[in-house]
Amino acid sequence: QHCDDRVAAGSLPSCLLAAGVRNFSLAGSPAYDALLNFSIQNLRFALPAAGAVPRPAAVVLPRGRSELTSAVLCARHASLRIRVRSGGHSYEGLSYTVGDGGDDADRVRFVVIDLMRMNRVRVDAASATAWVESGATLGEIYYAVASSSSSLAFPAGSCSTVGAGGHISGGGFGLLSRKFKLAADNVLDAILVDADGRVLDRSSMGENVFWAIRGGGGGSWGVVYAWKLRLVQVPNTLTAFTPKRTGSVDAIAGLVHRWQYVGSALPDEFYLSVFLTIGGASSSSPSRDGNVTVSFTGLVLGSKELAMSVLSERFPELGLAEPEMSEMSWVESAARFAGLSSTEELTSRASRTKHYAKSKSDYVRSPIARGAVAAILRYLAGGPAGYVILDPYGGAMAREGSGDTPFPHRAGNLYSVQYGVTWEAGDDGGGGGGGEARMAWLRALYAYMAPHVSKNPRAAYVNYVDLDLGTNALAGNVSSPSSSVSRARSTWGSAYFSPANFDRLVGAKTLIDRSNVFSNAQSIPPLQI
Ligand code: FDA
Repeated sequence: QHCDDRVAAGSLPSCLLAAGVRNFSLAGSPAYDALLNFSIQNLRFALPAAGAVPRPAAVVLPRGRSELTSAVLCARHASLRIRVRSGGHSYEGLSYTVGDGGDDADRVRFVVIDLMRMNRVRVDAASATAWVESGATLGEIYYAVASSSSSLAFPAGSCSTVGAGGHISGGGFGLLSRKFKLAADNVLDAILVDADGRVLDRSSMGENVFWAIRGGGGGSWGVVYAWKLRLVQVPNTLTAFTPKRTGSVDAIAGLVHRWQYVGSALPDEFYLSVFLTIGGASSSSPSRDGNVTVSFTGLVLGSKELAMSVLSERFPELGLAEPEMSEMSWVESAARFAGLSSTEELTSRASRTKHYAKSKSDYVRSPIARGAVAAILRYLAGGPAGYVILDPYGGAMAREGSGDTPFPHRAGNLYSVQYGVTWEAGDDGGGGGGGEARMAWLRALYAYMAPHVSKNPRAAYVNYVDLDLGTNALAGNVSSPSSSVSRARSTWGSAYFSPANFDRLVGAKTLIDRSNVFSNAQSIPPLQI
């Protein structure tokens, strides 16, 4: 075992150097820890603090397509498993850890191919398109698009350090999605490096694989080197607002209850989400006077007047006042909703805050009764620090068919729910930053929510990846590939994609990566290995 390990580790650098790839760091070398940790967003998987989490044999940072291809081939040559990382925001650390496929994780040797040096964004304002390397962050994309034209934008998530590679692979929902759908819905072409080092575009990968890579989740198909994106037209002036409302549990429950009828039914130009804080002092939990707080996040593609006239008619209970709103450009709104103080900060890859975190997700298809909303608010009061975000769907999201891309959560979904708990090293409730008690509380909340959310399957969003839903490792005792497909289909596969889309994904996987080179705890299994 150890002798084999040395041979494998030895052959990677020589293969890389022979291919002209110099930008890599082997375990134990001086730069290794900093390179590995830079993009780790969830400290639950920070290495080596977690101790038990195996570390990669090397971190390779290709600087372009041919180095990327060499990195894939050299990793295979050295019999190393591959983890591809763009922004490192995977909620379960899937881009830089192993522990999948029934393997004994401690003995799996692997390499992280980190795309952070492949972050070029080339905008063609005339055709309203952009070619974006997968290592670009959303902030880098937004900044480049806005620099080329004040009327162009791209619909994707709100956190500026999220990577294009993982985000677009799993869908990509953001404040423009009710008008322009997901990031993945706006992909016109892509360059994929497959397990054999072939460089494929839309026509050479074929429509099934091109369908799969736009929402079927990262890490299953190969490495997406770059995406060709359709940019969208936005007005020069948008209106942003983040009103907070405090009141009795019953009053706030009334507001949230009413929002359920409003959020998905507003005109496409409106985005209005709900943010509830779990536990803690300044939260939606009842304070000593029995009051709770809810925050809304609003963005309107238009003026304050438009925002006021529509919201005062459709949602008078919110009592939105003109001074609560600010007019700004799209890129200024992107910086604001990323929590940044200037648009230039969109180009920074460095995350300002990192926590230990665990998240889960749901979809709501019928409004939750007012009394039940009040009970949920009281339940949240008893929790550890965390949040619940309700993201409105409807609009253009509902006009895309549930099989048009692998992302199935379209017509009929009122909103998505994202639950998260966060903690810092040394916080009680888990010891050593493990946070077991916090994660147990989150799982109990998830069980508590079951009567109120989608069923058969209980749906979830693949970009909020959640290994509680089941893993390929759970199928570790199952030897036949068809059993592993059916296991995945009956658990996370249907939750993320619907049974029909999951079946099509398995077909696409079997076409592009029959030997399952690109696999992780929740990668799509091929029909035959
Ligand atoms: P990371 O590099 O960890 O990759 C995620 C997965 O994709 C891994 O399995 C990885 O191997 C694979 N992958 C990465 N690059 C690839 C490539 N080039 N080719 C093939 N596979 C690749 N989501 C959302 O829809 N809207 C939002 O507003 C937000 N906001 C948000 C904020 C914060 C703070 C976090 C931590 C996460 C979000 N997300 C989100 C979720 C986010 O979209 C999701 O975590 C993405 O997978 C992250 O993509 P990264 O490239 O950053 O992750």
